[in-house]
Amino acid sequence: MDKPLNANRLRTHFSLIKLIAWTCIFLGLILFFSLHYPHSSPSNRLKYLEDSDWKYQILNSGRPKSRNGFRVLVTGAAGFVGMHVSTALRQRGDGVVGLDNFNGYYEKSLKRAREDLLKSKDVFIVEGDINDGVLLTKLFKLVKFTHVMHLAAQAGVRYAMKNPGSYVHSNIGGFVSLLEVCKLMNPQPAIVWASSSSVYGLNKKVPFSEIDRTDNPSSLYAATKKAGEAIAHTYNHIHGLSITGLRFFTVYGPWGRPDMAYFFFTRDILKGKQISVFEGLNGFTVSRDFTYIDDIVKGCLGALDTATKSTGSGGIKKGPAQLRVYNLGNTSPVPVSKLVNILEKLLKVKANKVVSPMPANGDVLFTHANISLARRELGYKPTTDLQSGLKKFVAWYLDYYKPSGKKSSV
Ligand SMILES: NC(=O)c1ccc[n+]([C@@H]2O[C@H](COP(=O)([O-])OP(=O)(O)OC[C@H]3O[C@@H](n4cnc5c(N)ncnc54)[C@H](O)[C@@H]3O)[C@@H](O)[C@H]2O)c1
Ligand SMILES: *[C@@H]1O[C@H](CO)[C@@H](O)[C@H](O)[C@H]1NC(C)=O
Repeated sequence: MDKPLNANRLRTHFSLIKLIAWTCIFLGLILFFSLHYPHSSPSNRLKYLEDSDWKYQILNSGRPKSRNGFRVLVTGAAGFVGMHVSTALRQRGDGVVGLDNFNGYYEKSLKRAREDLLKSKDVFIVEGDINDGVLLTKLFKLVKFTHVMHLAAQAGVRYAMKNPGSYVHSNIGGFVSLLEVCKLMNPQPAIVWASSSSVYGLNKKVPFSEIDRTDNPSSLYAATKKAGEAIAHTYNHIHGLSITGLRFFTVYGPWGRPDMAYFFFTRDILKGKQISVFEGLNGFTVSRDFTYIDDIVKGCLGALDTATKSTGSGGIKKGPAQLRVYNLGNTSPVPVSKLVNILEKLLKVKANKVVSPMPANGDVLFTHANISLARRELGYKPTTDLQSGLKKFVAWYLDYYKPSGKKSSV
């Protein structure tokens, strides 16, 4: 009678030890992963939402400093345009809360450096994804945003061949997720968001005007921006959201995007690396309507300032609301070969360039904006030509990546 009981007890004992051992291993693993990936685990995000310091930062950042200041949620605030727009808004006294997922599409250190700069200007960036409706709702609970400046997106034309899903995730899914939260707010915010000149696709008629057709996109990126414009139309129509789309034309300048030609040409010229300058069929020069960042910022502020209120409440439209689209370009297309010449002079280094036919990767041959509508309605008036804008970019680049610094332009 005694023996089997003892054996039983021993067995229970063993499984108990096993259970404890496994529990320890699990807890260890959880600890390991939460230490190594502090921002990516959902449990960590939920912890964030209850953290009082986190809340304080948001409240402080979202509080306007001037009497009639806006309260603006800037998505993509750690991005190139987002950082500049956030700075300008904060400087004139608006409350600004940033939101960015700090994804690794290009060097994260640059996004972190922009975040540091914004911190010094009293702008806090919440780390999170626009697809996270719970987080967005929480932010709107903390700050009654009057406006949303929506700049978060998967940018770049060529990367769509590698990672098409990221375009659908951020530019379509993310946009809908944001609009879903905005429509339910009371009052609803007015929304200004970044579309793109790429919606003009393979159009031949120049300059590109807002009334032109935009139904022949040449890249998935362009198609998702075009989809965004259609989605904006429905949320305006059904829910009374005031929405303004801005079609940016090749924005460049300090703190720019490393995946763009002016940026990696600069890097490669300095390294003595060969650069490819593309041309179209029959020697057709590829040209772009390069637009300096400060001009784009003014256009964004002009759009925010002229946006009228959304009309819906509780998700239901109460009357017609504003729906607008504007080109924000420079109106003077420059051949890419000229861009290279300017860079060579500014860097005092001769480029090692090869001219080759443009690969079929979604890039268009030329862009040229008609900006008369933005000029009339937003007071938009670009003032920086490519030469002076690149001079400022190069000065920033040489300082940011100076050889003594720790940053590398990989
Ligand atoms: N720079 C240009 O020449 C240009 C031209 C046309 C349109 N645009 C548009 O302007 C906007 C800003 O462009 P940019 O040049 O500053 O690009 P960017 O890549 O520097 O900035 C976008 C930011 O959004 C963030 N982001 C991306 N997906 C996100 C998500 N799902 N959730 C939260 N954050 C996310 C990224 O981390 C990044 O910091 C984008 O919508 C872009 O498509 C830019
Ligand atoms: C520019 O766009 C406006 C509409 O905004 C249009 O009336 C005008 O004809 C366009 N100009 C050219 C040169 O296409």
